[in-house]
Amino acid sequence: HDSLYRETNRPQFHFTTRRGWINDPNGLIYHDGEYHLFYQHNPYERDWENMHWGHAVSKDLIHWEELPDALYPDHLGTMYSGSAVTDYENTAGYNRDNVPAMIVAYTAASPDKQVQCIAYSLDNGRTFTKYPENPVIDSKHIWNSIDTRDPKVFWYKPGKHWVMVLNERDGHSIYISSNLKEWTYQSHITGFWECPELFELPIDGDPNNTKWVMYGATGTYMLGSFNGKVFKPEMGKYQYTTGSIYAAQTFTNMPDGRRIQIGWGRISHPGMPFNGMMCLPTELTLRTTKDGPRLFNVPIKESEQLFTPLRQWNSLKANEANELLKEFENADYLRIKTTFKLSHATSAGFNLFGQQMLTYDLNPNTINGVFYSPDDMTSMEITADIYIDRTSIEVFVDNGAYSFSMVRKPDKNNKEGFHFWGNNIDIKDLQVFGGKSIWDK
Ligand code: FRU
Repeated sequence: HDSLYRETNRPQFHFTTRRGWINDPNGLIYHDGEYHLFYQHNPYERDWENMHWGHAVSKDLIHWEELPDALYPDHLGTMYSGSAVTDYENTAGYNRDNVPAMIVAYTAASPDKQVQCIAYSLDNGRTFTKYPENPVIDSKHIWNSIDTRDPKVFWYKPGKHWVMVLNERDGHSIYISSNLKEWTYQSHITGFWECPELFELPIDGDPNNTKWVMYGATGTYMLGSFNGKVFKPEMGKYQYTTGSIYAAQTFTNMPDGRRIQIGWGRISHPGMPFNGMMCLPTELTLRTTKDGPRLFNVPIKESEQLFTPLRQWNSLKANEANELLKEFENADYLRIKTTFKLSHATSAGFNLFGQQMLTYDLNPNTINGVFYSPDDMTSMEITADIYIDRTSIEVFVDNGAYSFSMVRKPDKNNKEGFHFWGNNIDIKDLQVFGGKSIWDK
């Protein structure tokens, strides 16, 4: 492992595969003491093709061990995105000697159509047996569309049945099942695309006040209610994250009830033996803002272990901060946390070697060009938690009210280095954290 982390442009604290292309995370699940990250993998080339399910496991969601691929293409097609569950109640009949099966639902994609299939594992995801009567859903003829894919399955406790959210043609459909093999169609909601998610979250941590969240691959979401068969939207669509992140999925069976997701970082790695990466795992919560409940997204607490505080300053002017940050310009592993206040400026931001990491504009109210409505506009204050790796930058604004991710393209000929800008901005707080490759524990 360690030699891989010394490769040029190998991300130091994000998951990448040893070799080949990756895209969507698949089958995220906590099962028998391990976190599993399956993912869209082309083991042979750096480009999208030959989709397999790659596989990695972790004890802490930060340090991952890559295992052999878990699902291989077959006569029904290549292995597209899907999800995993633990069949505690033995509904599918695969459990042995009190070992509950891990069951994955995935799409088999052929040039002709995309069908939904299942496979089970009794050895913690190391090997899978495909259901001989696959596919379990074949719906091309109903939608007259080849876009029927990405099953996300979960257990709906109140109704004691399985739910599958599935991308079909122009939106997300709901199917239900008692045994993961026979599925019946229930409902459809338009306006989403690929990699559906549907889950319940408490508002401000109150278990008696919840909303269901429906999202698709791009980070747009609706809030509403769900009765096990129909999702009724009440609010949205909103967007909680933008940029390079795509096709995020949340973990099933989280032991502590947290809703944790990993998204694909659409970050190209030219010239490297691998391509693409996973974004930092983040925790999703619903919190009340002046506009109503909204999704917040912050790195999980486990990621704290990656960073050591290096410096901290208070009350700086932009030029002072830029001078102090010179020392860190060439670091390839950095976290910067800052709060700045726009007393006179109508716009301000923070760049690295000319690349805009954060641009806050009051008129109209945007961050990096996306509309933003902070809770307290009168204070004109913004907090940013910025994670810089060799090839990517992730920024979490105002405790995760908004976040975005981007490729890092250092243009070291640009003299600017780290560069706060804005007329007389007041940098109230500036903290720098460093780290070592996840390999060097
Ligand atoms: C999203 C996606 C999914 C599909 C997979 C194929 O990035 O297009 O809809 O299952 O990638 O690799």
